[in-house]
Amino acid sequence: NRYKIISRRNSYHGATYGALSATGLPDFVEPFHPLVPGFVKAMSTFCYHCELGLEPSSCNLACLKNMEQTILGEKPGTVAAVIVDPIPGSNTGYPVPPDGYIPGLRALCDKYGILLIFDEVQVGFGKTGKMFACENWNVVPDFLCLAKGFTGGYLPMGVVIVKEGIANEFRKPGKDFHHGFTFSGNPTIACVVLKVIEIIKKENLVQKAVETGKYLEENLRILYEYPVVGDIRGIGMLWAVELVEDRKTKKPLDSKLKVGTWIRDYCWKKGMILRNNAEILVIAPALIMTREQVDFMIDIIDEAIREAIKHFKF
Ligand SMILES: Cc1ncc(COP(=O)(O)O)c(C=O)c1O
Repeated sequence: NRYKIISRRNSYHGATYGALSATGLPDFVEPFHPLVPGFVKAMSTFCYHCELGLEPSSCNLACLKNMEQTILGEKPGTVAAVIVDPIPGSNTGYPVPPDGYIPGLRALCDKYGILLIFDEVQVGFGKTGKMFACENWNVVPDFLCLAKGFTGGYLPMGVVIVKEGIANEFRKPGKDFHHGFTFSGNPTIACVVLKVIEIIKKENLVQKAVETGKYLEENLRILYEYPVVGDIRGIGMLWAVELVEDRKTKKPLDSKLKVGTWIRDYCWKKGMILRNNAEILVIAPALIMTREQVDFMIDIIDEAIREAIKHFKF
């Protein structure tokens, strides 16, 4: 009877039909309706733009309560899994969930017998300063999805790690896993991934991400000197700078001005590839980045913001 999957608003899980149905970004999803049935959305943990207008210091984890209400509203016995991107990705600029949310989510899933899926496609493999993002809370999901970090996008490879008990279901006599693809388990790429894991360990790159990430954070925070910088958020080597018209009220910039895109183009002209999602500037460098490269990057972003302030007369 359990066929529903609860995901969250503002999440991104991919562009294939099932993953898109779990995705919670209306602009990405709406052109493809109708979606796969059984996908239900709960509140996100995007604290800077909290759906309820609350502050993390006093909200009492309203987002976790919303998840429980959503489960109860759907009748827990019909819910197979909850899927979350524990730290949402570049589309929202790495909003780290409030303390207690991820352990609370694990407890909720256990309470109602629901499987917990962590989509760490973007935030896994050292990027948060831990090999897996879920280690930041010592929480173990039932499914862990990984991809980008271990090939850097140069080769196509994604994996889903499952708990032993789930894998064993498919090993029972008479049971099979009929869900393969021509290019599944590609041995050449698997060799590359094993080598990457070996190098990450040998060169201590996860610890390096902690140290370089701290340096990156300290230097990024200097950008608060510009009133147009509303929020700087992130963890490890994953950071975002969100630009606003008014820091106090969080009033957004006029989207027609396309300030974020102007800044992105400025950085590109200066020799640095920056991604923006509207007014969110996204910074997710490789684990091997040096302090000198951080300085280079921050200098260009700083200059780009200064030039944008002049250009748009803020
Ligand atoms: C969190 C997350 N999940 C899933 C995906 C989808 O991965 P793919 O494009 O390889 O299907 C992405 C891609 O950006 C992602 O960031």
